[in-house]
Amino acid sequence: MERVNLSSSSSISRIIYGMWRLADDINTSSKHISDKVNLCLGQGITSFDQAAVYGLYSAEALFGEVLKANPSLRHKIEIVSKCCIVNPSDRYAGVSVSHYDTSREHIFNSVDSSLKNMATDYLDLLLIHRQDPFLDHHETGKALDDLIKSGKVKEVGVSNFKPWDFNLLQSSMKSHLVTNQIEMSLAATDSFTNGDLAFHQERATTIMAWSPLGGGKLMKDKGILGKALKKIAVNQNVDIAAVAVAWLLAHPARICPVMGTNNLNRIAKISDAMNVKMDRESWFELYTASFNDGKLQWRLP
Ligand SMILES: NC(=O)c1ccc[n+]([C@@H]2O[C@H](COP(=O)([O-])OP(=O)(O)OC[C@H]3O[C@@H](n4cnc5c(N)ncnc54)[C@H](OP(=O)(O)O)[C@@H]3O)[C@@H](O)[C@H]2O)c1
Repeated sequence: MERVNLSSSSSISRIIYGMWRLADDINTSSKHISDKVNLCLGQGITSFDQAAVYGLYSAEALFGEVLKANPSLRHKIEIVSKCCIVNPSDRYAGVSVSHYDTSREHIFNSVDSSLKNMATDYLDLLLIHRQDPFLDHHETGKALDDLIKSGKVKEVGVSNFKPWDFNLLQSSMKSHLVTNQIEMSLAATDSFTNGDLAFHQERATTIMAWSPLGGGKLMKDKGILGKALKKIAVNQNVDIAAVAVAWLLAHPARICPVMGTNNLNRIAKISDAMNVKMDRESWFELYTASFNDGKLQWRLP
């Protein structure tokens, strides 16, 4: 598995395994989660994407059980987690309105909780989960810098940020925001033309693509796109999912897809995408099929 450098001292696997759906699986036993992790490691997928809010604040602890049972695992993997979504829940008793909290106090408390949940003393990467319309970039930027200084977090980044929000937060920081995790797939192609991807290509910031299969939607497509995916999948003897992920991997921006399947057989085949050949014509065949008319046209942002 290829590696992608986030900085001169840290890297992630090109494909990341995401744990948003971990708590929704019918089997949430440590054994089952450990099987998922081992299947990933067997393919060189060493980076695991978490968030404080996943599973309504339960997913990190589920993963933590696996880490507690096997402490040597921690040094073989990179843990990404996110903070700042506050939903009414047992964790936030008394909160009645869902909101974002990018205050210093919240960020530090959230990271401490993530570290405890996952039985570790550092996160490889912390992301601000979503752009906060109430952001005090001076406070948040300083908090992120101080977290790095404290050693609790090795790198910081953002998720779902527009370029101007990325610039605003970065403007108040000494350390670099090393990634933006955004939605990208054949079911969500806007960022290819609306400036989001171009912004990060110019700055050589690593882009992570969440829901690379459109949350499973692409697998159910019976139209032009479904047929085009199937044709390439049959020709190359792989699953449709591998072709959809290869479409992201082929892009010159070196996009890092974050996969979310809970199915062990599917996890075992995630890295098939790395071997799919995707030339320019095939890329455009899928891209234009995603507009549902199969025709190349000028796409206005
Ligand atoms: N930063 C953000 O705001 C944000 C938002 C959303 C997600 N994420 C991250 O991105 C990760 C992936 O998101 P996602 O789960 O929506 O990604 P995805 O890989 O696009 O979708 C996974 C879903 O597709 C289903 N699926 C159906 N057929 C499949 C097939 N042949 N192969 C694989 N999956 C198939 C899976 O079901 P089975 O489980 O039955 O296979 C699962 O429900 C999350 O875990 C999270 O880490 C981040």
